[in-house]
Amino acid sequence: MSDRPLTYGSYLKVPELLGLQENRSAPAHHDEPLFIIIHQVYELWFKLMLHEIDSAVELLGADRVGEATRLLRRVVEVQRVLVAQVKVLETMRPQDFLGFRYHLNPASGFQSIQFREIEFLLGLKDPRILEHLRSEPEETARLAARLATPSLADAFAALLRRRHPEAAGEDRQLEALVAIYEAPEAHADLLALAEVLLDIDENLSIWRAHHVQMVERMIGARRGTGGSEGVAYLQSTLPKRAFPDLWRVRTRIGQEPA
Ligand code: HEM
Repeated sequence: MSDRPLTYGSYLKVPELLGLQENRSAPAHHDEPLFIIIHQVYELWFKLMLHEIDSAVELLGADRVGEATRLLRRVVEVQRVLVAQVKVLETMRPQDFLGFRYHLNPASGFQSIQFREIEFLLGLKDPRILEHLRSEPEETARLAARLATPSLADAFAALLRRRHPEAAGEDRQLEALVAIYEAPEAHADLLALAEVLLDIDENLSIWRAHHVQMVERMIGARRGTGGSEGVAYLQSTLPKRAFPDLWRVRTRIGQEPA
């Protein structure tokens, strides 16, 4: 421990943080710092999201629904920032990106381990992702561990089974949700949680949609640096849902007028 008093910079490790942006273009392209910083900022927010969702899973396991919901609301607000950030990137012109894009090859956002951890932790577990990833062994191991640990969707399903024993069995979860949505005052805490989960799912979809639109604006129909078809591949991910029953329940509740 140093005997110097703590400062803003030493507490937050600002000098180290500011030393982490290394242009690969030489001479440095004007827009490469934007590209590096925006990705690094995303990764920092991803780290916080994982921290909050991990805690929420644990809290749900202990039936602390209100506290889990509070932390998940924070995740929703972070996601709003993530969506808004896409606009900052759109201030870059396609020709600017082309000016340094070849230096990134074959790196791609596809390889963001934390993004995949978030997907797996929410409940979108796809073991094929592990086969297609090029990353450090310890990162791959971290992601593989996520496959084996209960997701937020699992924790929510287990909570529903505890509170609505008639909801045991996958196909019964939807029935429990119908009961909750149709008697909101009797299940206020579960309903608040369900709506926050839906917000998280919706914000992830909105991010995917904004990202693919931005990608089309930037590279048109070119292939991705990660080797995918690019925009066509990203469009195929748009229907992903971590909490499909929370979308289905909308069709089931309420009476149709006779
Ligand atoms: C100029 C900016 C960007 C372009 C042109 C771009 C392009 C692409 C493309 C083409 C893919 C498909 C995989 C591939 O073949 O490479 C992809 C995937 C992805 N990108 Fe970006 N991207 C950009 C910025 C970002 C930013 C700022 C993030 C924030 C972390 C990001 C995160 C991701 C993620 C997570 C995937 C995987 C999506 C999935 O498989 O569901 N991208 N990107």
